[in-house]
Amino acid sequence: MRQPRPVGVITRGTTNPNRLRRCDRWLAGPQAWRLRRSGPAPVVVDLGYGSSPVTALELHDRLRRVRPDVEVVGIEIDPARVAVARPLERPGLRFAVGGFEVPLPHGARPVLVRAFNVLRQYDESQVPHAWATTVGRLAPGGLLVDGTCDELGRLMTWVAVTADRPVSLSLSWRLRGLERPGVVAERLPKALIHRNVPGEGVHRLLTDLDEAWARQAPQAAYGIRQRFLATASALRTSGWPLLDGPSRWRLGELTVAWDAVAPTGSPGLPGGSRGVSPGGSPALPSAGHQGP
Ligand SMILES: C[S@@+](CC[C@H](N)C(=O)[O-])C[C@H]1O[C@@H](n2cnc3c(N)ncnc32)[C@H](O)[C@@H]1O
Repeated sequence: MRQPRPVGVITRGTTNPNRLRRCDRWLAGPQAWRLRRSGPAPVVVDLGYGSSPVTALELHDRLRRVRPDVEVVGIEIDPARVAVARPLERPGLRFAVGGFEVPLPHGARPVLVRAFNVLRQYDESQVPHAWATTVGRLAPGGLLVDGTCDELGRLMTWVAVTADRPVSLSLSWRLRGLERPGVVAERLPKALIHRNVPGEGVHRLLTDLDEAWARQAPQAAYGIRQRFLATASALRTSGWPLLDGPSRWRLGELTVAWDAVAPTGSPGLPGGSRGVSPGGSPALPSAGHQGP
């Protein structure tokens, strides 16, 4: 029987060893409960691992410390990239061709799907359909993480999406040498990168972060970590719904409730309905190539 064509398009395969470490630390830290409470052999998908499967191997290494029986599946829409990865399969790690529909044998459902630097090469209007297609495959209590980062993973952002709705936006910075937190704007996920304009929640967030950072300049005398902690704390005091606290802030990580940054005035985007609906947005094409 012929397999249906994967949902999505082949895009550039750029990747780098260790570039996704900040998100993996979040998955293996605050989100580890999702794995711990899962039944035997929980499945985690690395969707769109790129021209080399190195970040899928790293994800497996990191998550098996939480759940030694975790089954990581690297899924790529480009069959040639799957052929490159297959020789690196090992117990608990395998590779398959697929797209946002997340094909898994025997109807298995993933508890986590990490899709990094995948949607950034799509159009903003395609995000809701991609999210809806993927979260429709999640196990109960599962999470899709749609994120973007720079080449070396020093700036990173990700949206966490459950089967019902997007729940949070996380921002993560390498603190050493950080000039100001707003530089993360260029690495926002596709759902938000075009929304860094006055009137949008994410623009307010980055503006407030930079202002708080400037006000906390005297803290730099105690080190950049102290300055960042004071910045995050000031943000919370001013009313921003931060979902984490100092133990994460000291890592240069900050998570805010999605509703505070959800895009406005766009019925086709999840922020418009506060939900993840496959309707109202263009359907995604099936596998083909998309230029850079
Ligand atoms: C820039 S690479 C990202 C590699 C890796 N995730 C990282 O962040 O380092 C994006 C990859 O996603 C793949 N891709 C694009 N759309 C996809 C889809 N719908 N399903 C699976 N893979 C997809 C592309 O073929 C490409 O190899």
